[in-house]
Amino acid sequence: MEKFYVTTPIYYVTMKPHIGHAYTTIIADILARWHRLKGEEVFFLTGTDEHGSKVQKAASEAGKNPQEFVDGVVEFYKQAWKALNISYDKFIRTTDDYHIAIVRKFIKKLWDTGDIFKSKYEGWYCLPDETFIPESEVQDGKCPYCGRAVQKIQEDAYFFSLSKYKDTLLRVFSEDERFVIPKSKANEMVSRLNGEVKDLDITRQSIDWGIKFPIDETQTIYVWVDALANYISALGWPDGEDFKKFWPADVHIVGKEILWFHSVIWPAMLISAGVPLPKTILAHGWWTVDGQKMSKSLGNFVDPVEIANKYSVDSLRYFLIKEMPVGEDGDFSESALVSRINGELVADLGNLLSRVLTLVDRYKGSISGEIEVDKELDIEKVSDMLDNYNVTGALEEVWKFIRSINKYFNDKEPWKLEGQELSKVLNNSLEALRIISILLEPFMPSTSLKIKEQLGVGEEKLDKAKFGQFRGKVKRGENLFTKVNAKV
Ligand code: ME8
Ligand code: MG
Repeated sequence: MEKFYVTTPIYYVTMKPHIGHAYTTIIADILARWHRLKGEEVFFLTGTDEHGSKVQKAASEAGKNPQEFVDGVVEFYKQAWKALNISYDKFIRTTDDYHIAIVRKFIKKLWDTGDIFKSKYEGWYCLPDETFIPESEVQDGKCPYCGRAVQKIQEDAYFFSLSKYKDTLLRVFSEDERFVIPKSKANEMVSRLNGEVKDLDITRQSIDWGIKFPIDETQTIYVWVDALANYISALGWPDGEDFKKFWPADVHIVGKEILWFHSVIWPAMLISAGVPLPKTILAHGWWTVDGQKMSKSLGNFVDPVEIANKYSVDSLRYFLIKEMPVGEDGDFSESALVSRINGELVADLGNLLSRVLTLVDRYKGSISGEIEVDKELDIEKVSDMLDNYNVTGALEEVWKFIRSINKYFNDKEPWKLEGQELSKVLNNSLEALRIISILLEPFMPSTSLKIKEQLGVGEEKLDKAKFGQFRGKVKRGENLFTKVNAKV
């Protein structure tokens, strides 16, 4: 049986998820569902990144100890993924015992290879906050959090020989077209690799909230090394059944800002540990909200659960995928969402189902007749696009088909027909809707189910997406989507 392993980043549990996190997770869900629809065995991993100074800081701001804090915030993620119909197979937390043990084992492996050495870490430090501040965040020599002066300090640290893998990685990029998708993002990594690549400090003395470094227990493992290892610890590396079955990952889905970590640092560590590389890292762009970056200071984070409750989960899933093709940036606004709900979900899909079923209700004869709409759909094209992670293109292709069936239905004017002629148009329309319900399952699982219920057909895999004699027992139900009238 074919296998498919897909991952999302593990998100920092500093606050509840926003639409950016939802977007990545929905893409992963679509791919997982698509591969299950093809009859493959799928492992879909998501989870939370719970260590490091960011989380420690958020915990102390909330007046909690870190463990208590992350135990609370993680629930927001689990609830959100449930509300958004995310079909993950495993939810990993980096505070899980098995993860901690495997990270330590992984580090030992890099140590045994000779790729870890002791040296000095030098950086900007805010003494009152007891935090290292990345060069890029220092503002006029001051701490971005408290505004007090930062100072250069040095501490002992262990480093990973990242520079050693530069040429190997350049070769991977040039030999494998699918290593990073899209191409434009791969090119950015290649040009960065062609510049100076520094060895990476992988431990910190001054951070406590994390996994202890097994070679020197006074040091804490850098949160990114801890986090990246989740993709194999979740499978029980090195001997676990799931690891043998599912590794290498088919695709790690990430936002563009963490592509370097995933396509350079992570692969270098895997090569060092003798572990095969993931097949693809898929990098997507960023959402803004009403034209602005989401930020704490603007307080403009959009809560995906609120949007789903207000408009429906599938409206949100549809909008996010249709609005922002993977690799591009996009803007979220409620008015754009509403215009897609009214113009596409209600007008194209919802109305089609209800118009066809109304006519079926009135018609008393048996339904059958030659198929004439099959040429309007290119399933292979949809399939190719999804296999190449073009979820937006695939959804557009399905939508083209929905529109062509609307046109067919209008052109035939079946309400004026009788007998065999009417029977044929109904058979074509019902078969089209049945196939649409199969193809929409990955994108809009609950809408797909509602269509199937009204058509009176069961859950069907992709091999049933072939036109023939419609055999369902039709039962009209509620409209799929409701027109939004309020101005937003
Ligand atoms: O980076 N638009 O976690 P994180 C689109 N813990 N996607 C967005 C987004 C936006 N405006 N904002 C966030 C971390 N995302 C690390 C990852 S993985 C081993 C460790 C999505 O909570 C996008 O997928 O900051 C981005 O890469 C991720 O959330 C960052 O989540
Ligand atoms: Mg990933």
